[in-house]
Amino acid sequence: MRRKLIAGNWKMNASLAANTALLAGIKAELSQQPACDVAVCVPAPYFAQCQTELAGSAMAWGGQDMSEHESGAYTGEVSAAMLLDFGCRYVIVGHSERRTYHAENDQLVARKALRALRSGLIPIVCVGETLNEREAGDTDKIVGQQIDTVLAAIDAADLADIVVAYEPVWAIGTGKTATPQMAQDVHAMLRRKLMKKNAVAASQVKILYGGSMKPDNAKELLSMADIDGGLIGGAALKAPDFLAIIRAA
Ligand code: PGA
Repeated sequence: MRRKLIAGNWKMNASLAANTALLAGIKAELSQQPACDVAVCVPAPYFAQCQTELAGSAMAWGGQDMSEHESGAYTGEVSAAMLLDFGCRYVIVGHSERRTYHAENDQLVARKALRALRSGLIPIVCVGETLNEREAGDTDKIVGQQIDTVLAAIDAADLADIVVAYEPVWAIGTGKTATPQMAQDVHAMLRRKLMKKNAVAASQVKILYGGSMKPDNAKELLSMADIDGGLIGGAALKAPDFLAIIRAA
């Protein structure tokens, strides 16, 4: 039985005051030993705040992106070592908003995942198809390519240290959710691909679902055999909603 992970993705929504209120609201209700792993992925300027306000809590924190490079002349970039300096455990790589607005391709996402692993961060590797791709019947092909590129870049021994997030692009922030069976079908395909890389580790890898996961649909999604948690955008910005999803896990 895989332990589930509920990870919030705040995207570009945060302020010192709003974060303090949100984190306090979650901490007040979250038991010291929740039944699942819990994390928030926050904008880089707030890593220090998370380190201060979440120290000793059951919640981990992480970034939403990082550089593929170790250090150097890369203006505006944030390195894995910088995330680690502030206690981050996770980093999202390859979110569809990075792929769409920052032209990140599968190769770059794979290099970032590899850099994260080598640095000791857990990459949450996002994959997912657009509506056009789904309607053309290309979901498995597109999502398969995305994960295969990452799997080709990493060592089999490192597979146990990644998290995968299936996020159908058409479900992100739209209120449209993949049905539990639609999501499960893609998760099962992803699991088969992981199995080919390292069968032992693949059975332990968490495959999260993301895309309009909310308190009212979380339980059904999270009950599917290969759905091991959620990457939560909008609903992670409201403590009661985030807590309800954690309870559903
Ligand atoms: P959403 O976002 O829950 O608001 O759809 C999920 C994500 O983009 O990670």
